[in-house]
Amino acid sequence: MEAKIAVYPGSFDPITYGHLDIIKRAVKIFDKVIVAVARNYDKQSLFTPQEKVEMITEAVKDYPTVSVDSFEGLLMEYMKKATATVALRGLRATSDFEYEYHMAAMNRSLNDEIDTLFMMTSRDYFFVSSRTIREVASLGGPVKEFVPDNVAQKLKEKFS
Ligand code: PNS
Repeated sequence: MEAKIAVYPGSFDPITYGHLDIIKRAVKIFDKVIVAVARNYDKQSLFTPQEKVEMITEAVKDYPTVSVDSFEGLLMEYMKKATATVALRGLRATSDFEYEYHMAAMNRSLNDEIDTLFMMTSRDYFFVSSRTIREVASLGGPVKEFVPDNVAQKLKEKFS
């Protein structure tokens, strides 16, 4: 049987425990999970794609079936090349839904052999987002509860 490969795409600016919770659960469902950092994202990023890949690689080092990559251009094109059939997205709240629904519908119209699978974020992290983490860290607040140690350290360096 073919390996079931999922891609977990995102901007990961930076990765949080909310993202890691999704990855940890996805590992139990898929043979392989590729965490894919979008490189051409039009948001102003705090971290470079390379920094993001390094931080994620360190954070997932205990999961042998997880690999980390970055991609440019359309997610559906990237996934086709990676022979992945499922795009994973975490849903925190109903406010995420509309954006996610439109994105999933667009992706499905681009490639109907790839499905988007939504996983509910753990209730421990439903209020955690990369944006709020950046804001708290930029104002000198504690973020250790919400991001791995290597990420907390990197945030400290960025804002020192
Ligand atoms: O973490 P984010 O910012 O919510 O991730 C959004 C992301 C990167 C998954 C999405 O913007 C994306 O897939 N970008 C790649 C370009 C693409 O394929 N766009 C078509 C989908 S509408």
